[in-house]
Amino acid sequence: MDIKFVSRERRARRVCVVVGTRPEIIKMAPVVKELSRRDVPFFILHAGQHYSFNMDRQFFEDLELPAPLHHLEEVRRHTTHASQTAEMMRGIEDVLFKERPSVVLVCGDANACFSGAVAARKLGLVVGHIEAGLRSHDWRMSEEHNRVMIDHISELLFAPTERARQNLLKESVNGEISVTGNTVVDASLEHVEIARGKSRILESTGLEPGYILLTMHREENVDDYLNLRSVLEAMRRISRRFADLPIVFPAHPRTVKRIGQFGLGGELKRPGTLRLLAPVGYLDFLMLLVNAGAVLTDSGGIQEEACVLRVPCVTMRENTERPESIEAGGNILAGTSPEGILVALGQMLGKKRDWANPFGDGKTAERIVRAVDCVLKESGGIPCRRRMDKAMEALI
Ligand code: UD1
Ligand code: UDP
Repeated sequence: MDIKFVSRERRARRVCVVVGTRPEIIKMAPVVKELSRRDVPFFILHAGQHYSFNMDRQFFEDLELPAPLHHLEEVRRHTTHASQTAEMMRGIEDVLFKERPSVVLVCGDANACFSGAVAARKLGLVVGHIEAGLRSHDWRMSEEHNRVMIDHISELLFAPTERARQNLLKESVNGEISVTGNTVVDASLEHVEIARGKSRILESTGLEPGYILLTMHREENVDDYLNLRSVLEAMRRISRRFADLPIVFPAHPRTVKRIGQFGLGGELKRPGTLRLLAPVGYLDFLMLLVNAGAVLTDSGGIQEEACVLRVPCVTMRENTERPESIEAGGNILAGTSPEGILVALGQMLGKKRDWANPFGDGKTAERIVRAVDCVLKESGGIPCRRRMDKAMEALI
């Protein structure tokens, strides 16, 4: 018999937390801790999209997370979107069939998140999307495709802000929306204090506070030769204009790979330009961030963290799905031209760090886990869940 979904009677009162990439591990950490604190049964499923020690295991150590119960080790061999996503979906489906959780939580917009949501949805499990409702309206971005699709197949939509909720309402999504804040606030506020005690990154690099921190890894930026060259040229001009400020660059493996493939390595070796580092752990990164004069980035999570920790941020993109950080006054869009980046940096360096944090109060995980626990206790008894179950029962 071809069983294609897990019926309600066969589901265990248990939550599956899917992670696959660096930011998912960081943003799920507060949820994992809260599930433990409230004694809600759960397990972690690592979809294996990120696998290098400093993109993966390092974060389990820094955030003191339990090891995943299941880890999809084969995914690293798959590098194109469809093949990577297919491999993750297949592996996640196997695990979900075996473990039969009632609720599957995914976070963000990476392929791992999308794979988890689709695999769980097709099995008839309750999908909870943490960080629902973000929209860049930039249809070049894989993350935008993923966000839209995940939001439309999730039943629990944990929107970080009211704007995210409005985005979901405009699209008439099916799931139940609640505004919870973003778990990145919980993670960064808790760990920045730990980092102050434990991290030795400033000593080991010999950096004095006030430097410029740089991260860059978006596909549209680094897989495009002209964009990548343009950003590196911006760094060259910044080091001329702000000669006393080192640019500290913990580089994502994707970026290092593309710099090599495009023959742009020479840009990194010019004297007085970048201080290239391997990706650093979470505690070290938070230390680098709070001691920076400004951060230049195309990262989603770093735009949020910079806003929360009041570090001026220059986003090297044409748009952002985190406009709240710009409205708050902590972030500015610079595009990727050297002129744009230089002007934006000039505006943000020395900016008064007095903006309000729009991403929540650090109790996001508590709200999410309370809602999830409620669903578990009612064995999936939210209204749309009941409709879903009826539809499923009709299919048996
Ligand atoms: C992915 C997400 C992106 C997220 C980012 C977080 C998608 C479509 N993209 O992008 O939204 O912002 O993660 O960092 O899901 N690599 C390693 N070691 C690793 C991971 C990656 O060497 O642990 C290298 C490999 O060469 C790999 C490349 O980086 O092919 C890209 O990795 P991939 O996971 O496909 O995309 P990211 O750029 O990391
Ligand atoms: N980060 C880190 N070390 C680094 C670079 C980033 O710990 O060298 C953390 C950062 O604090 C943030 C997250 O990684 O929480 C952001 O991940 P990334 O920029 O890869 O992905 P995005 O948020 O854009 O999806």
